[in-house]
Amino acid sequence: MTQLTQPRRVERIVTGQATQDGAGVKLKRVLTQDLQRRLDPFLMLDNFASSNPEDWGAGFPDHPHRGFETVTYMIAGRMRHRDSAGHEGLLQNGGVQWMTAGRGLVHSEMPEQEQGTMEGFQLWLNLPAERKLCEPWYRDIQSAEIPVFSTPEGVQGRVIAGQAEGVQGAVQRERTEPLYLDLQLPPGAVFRQPLPATHNAFIYVYRGQVDVLDGEDYGTTVPLHSMAILTNEGDGVALRAAEGAETTRVLLIAGRPLGEPIAQYGPFVMNTREELIQAVEDFQNGRLG
Ligand code: CO
Repeated sequence: MTQLTQPRRVERIVTGQATQDGAGVKLKRVLTQDLQRRLDPFLMLDNFASSNPEDWGAGFPDHPHRGFETVTYMIAGRMRHRDSAGHEGLLQNGGVQWMTAGRGLVHSEMPEQEQGTMEGFQLWLNLPAERKLCEPWYRDIQSAEIPVFSTPEGVQGRVIAGQAEGVQGAVQRERTEPLYLDLQLPPGAVFRQPLPATHNAFIYVYRGQVDVLDGEDYGTTVPLHSMAILTNEGDGVALRAAEGAETTRVLLIAGRPLGEPIAQYGPFVMNTREELIQAVEDFQNGRLG
């Protein structure tokens, strides 16, 4: 069993802000622009969850990106992706789409269902300065291809990126070393994950609630639909699911900060204002695909 000497504590609990993006898709923005520096290398986390088709709006029609990666994780529902680099894929139940925008592309993300629940997340991961203008890259990871683990306590984990419980995730990145886990904890179960103190880390609770333990027993409760930013002091994180009937589900996300300037203008994230002006110009002149 994983042991920790000093688990990280909760520095701050953040509740998502209701907003709209694309063509009227209602969502909760959990990681907002003011937290980009604190949670470097992560730039944004959105959570969408609704069974009312009106909340899906008209999806996300053609729009550009440059300078970072988008990681879309679909818990339920179906969404079709098309981009100007010629990639197309159907993202559905439990699948992940990892897209490196690099020097730029134009893509659409369109709902392909009329009923049922549409639920998922989009995370933005920054690219280091020397990779911001790299060739666009894309990978569709079907649910069955995501490496999984289970612990003796009955915790089940899906390793989207990084490594946990000896399992290598679907995607690895050198500079930022992102860890992206989707954890399911039965009532009362504890899960511990070592984390380097250099890495910024947070959790997001989307079923039930968890305690972030800072000793054997004492902890801070993180309610449903909340993000907890973890302190950097300590050698890992210890989570304990609330008692009760419900399974708790939590995203655990961590990464090594880039420590570079962040300049964002909508869907472009570069290091300087000049690079942003260039991105807008390139888009207007059809050079993003
Ligand atoms: Co997009």
